[in-house]
Amino acid sequence: MTALIDIKGVRHAYATAAGPLPVLDGLEVSVEEGGFCAVVGPSGCGKSTLTRLVAGLMHPDEGEVWLHGERVRGPRSTVGMAFQNPVLLEWRSILKNVMLPLEIVPNGLKGNAAKERARHLLSLVGLEDFEDKRPSELSGGMRQRASLCRALVHQPEVLILDEPFGALDAFTREDLWQTMHNLKEKEPFTGVLITHDLREAIFLGDQVVVLSGRPARTQYVMNIARSAPADLEELYTAEAAERLNILRHQIEIAQGRAPQEAAQ
Ligand SMILES: Nc1ncnc2c1ncn2[C@@H]1O[C@H](COP(=O)(O)OP(=O)(O)O)[C@@H](O)[C@H]1O
Ligand SMILES: [Mg+2]
Repeated sequence: MTALIDIKGVRHAYATAAGPLPVLDGLEVSVEEGGFCAVVGPSGCGKSTLTRLVAGLMHPDEGEVWLHGERVRGPRSTVGMAFQNPVLLEWRSILKNVMLPLEIVPNGLKGNAAKERARHLLSLVGLEDFEDKRPSELSGGMRQRASLCRALVHQPEVLILDEPFGALDAFTREDLWQTMHNLKEKEPFTGVLITHDLREAIFLGDQVVVLSGRPARTQYVMNIARSAPADLEELYTAEAAERLNILRHQIEIAQGRAPQEAAQ
């Protein structure tokens, strides 16, 4: 089976006043259709750059990015994105914020169909009673739920999440993890999740990719088989502890705090 997202041998350097800044050098990421790939790595190693490549917002200097068998050459409407700061528009209601991509994407749903689609998503994340509120009237966790709905409203093939839960408190974050599992079951997508939370990575991902320090290459890949509906209890098993240990060690290597030979 071919991958839905395929990043092959990507190298990239940003032009800066001080000269080229190499950020990616040997990036290999492959995500099957319906897969959920969590990407972890040291701060500033090139994780957000990776999301821009997949979204077609920039071109790599070398290497290839493929999406559903097509070379990515520009921005695509089949990609949905959500970030740490939800960037909802304060002058629009929550419902209207969620509907926004449908006004922009060609062939998007219109009128009542658009409203119904947005309402359906809001109900999946427990925000059915908040559609008329303004963003500032919602808690941080609720705003992030709305932003997930907005990212999914046009039924993108790929959902890219760049540290979406990073600004939330631990309990809210764990609620959102459950919401993500629920959303993925009801609204299937192929996901890329950037996170610095290893528990989040193993709870949500079926693949965890560890990037090396800048310039980032794919340093380590962990595959996690998922079967039963996800339960937070999973995080307290011996298996989870072992996975977290391996990933913690890989991050230490990526940060240059552990010897390279230990890399697998
Ligand atoms: N447009 C840009 N121009 C120049 N340097 C950039 C640009 N975007 C990011 N960088 C630099 O590239 C490196 C990787 O950035 P980024 O992909 O945002 O890292 P991460 O998301 O892993 O923290 C950082 O050192 C950052 O300062
Ligand atoms: Mg980033």
